[in-house]
Amino acid sequence: MLTTDEAFRKFKSRLELNDREQQNASTRQNEVRDYLVTKFAIANSFLTGSYKRHTKTKPLKDIDIFFVLKDSEKDYKDKAPSVVIGDFHKALVDKYGEKAVRKQARSVNVDFGVVVDAEDNTEYRILSVDVVPAFASGDDYEIPDTDNGKWIKTNPKIHADKATAAHQAFSNEWKGLVRMVKYWNNNPRHGSDKPVKPSFLLEVMALQCLYGGWQGRFDYEIEGLFSTLADRIFDTWADPAGLGPPISDGMDATRKQRARDLLLAASREARSAINLAKQGRNGDALKAWRTLFGPKFPLS
Ligand SMILES: Nc1ncnc2c1ncn2[C@@H]1O[C@H](COP(=O)(O)OP(=O)(O)OP(=O)(O)O)[C@@H](O)[C@H]1O
Ligand SMILES: [Mg+2]
Repeated sequence: MLTTDEAFRKFKSRLELNDREQQNASTRQNEVRDYLVTKFAIANSFLTGSYKRHTKTKPLKDIDIFFVLKDSEKDYKDKAPSVVIGDFHKALVDKYGEKAVRKQARSVNVDFGVVVDAEDNTEYRILSVDVVPAFASGDDYEIPDTDNGKWIKTNPKIHADKATAAHQAFSNEWKGLVRMVKYWNNNPRHGSDKPVKPSFLLEVMALQCLYGGWQGRFDYEIEGLFSTLADRIFDTWADPAGLGPPISDGMDATRKQRARDLLLAASREARSAINLAKQGRNGDALKAWRTLFGPKFPLS
């Protein structure tokens, strides 16, 4: 039987991005780009967000692609963000169909209709992409935000550099822990609403909530992380790049209270799983971790 440590290592590797998935993401990016360049003046496009930083969890969905528009499209910036989102939506509906395409606050989501099995596997295919219209602005980008009714600034490079620094300061275990907590956040046991929204907030919080260095044990780190996240979910969490609106703006007080309760419950469940292993009940401990996280946590 697996020890808790072996199970966590297997879990971590199951949440890692592999070559076949990257190949599929790249193929999808090219496909969407080859179409969109026929509709808009696009300077370039690139895969970004948590996917690019290796902090995205499985199954791979909502992979962010920035479509950097040329200067000739700059009239969009004088219009409400809903205009560019509406035009991208319309263009993508023409190719992918009404059912597969959805407007979001800062992007248009395209779903490829990939089926997820009971173990959360997808045969190495990505489920969907978030198409983000963007304008370059010095080293930053401006993207539409229909929640605020404004164009907001963002800087993927600063977010990536902060994640890399945190990862290195944590014996290269930080990104794995972030993917695990984001996987917990997606567990269907929470119902259709994730405890923490947006899930980027978990990564932003982890920049500060994982401190003191890696102590060598996944179980204790996870228990402590859930507990610190619960303690600090009511704080205001600014954009780590200091450009966009606070990342914590996505939840109202009721939603934060629910997140706190669920994070606290998660830390208590982690504690019981640790205790089960201490009592020599290893199989029960693995089952408890699997209930907490979901089917990618291995039992064998
Ligand atoms: N409030 C914000 N201000 C500035 N940039 C932001 C803000 N929110 C998100 N971003 C940037 O946009 C990217 C995409 O946002 P998104 O909400 O998809 O997060 P994500 O990190 O990709 O997480 P997920 O795994 O949920 O997709 C983020 O990775 C971050 O770089
Ligand atoms: Mg994303």
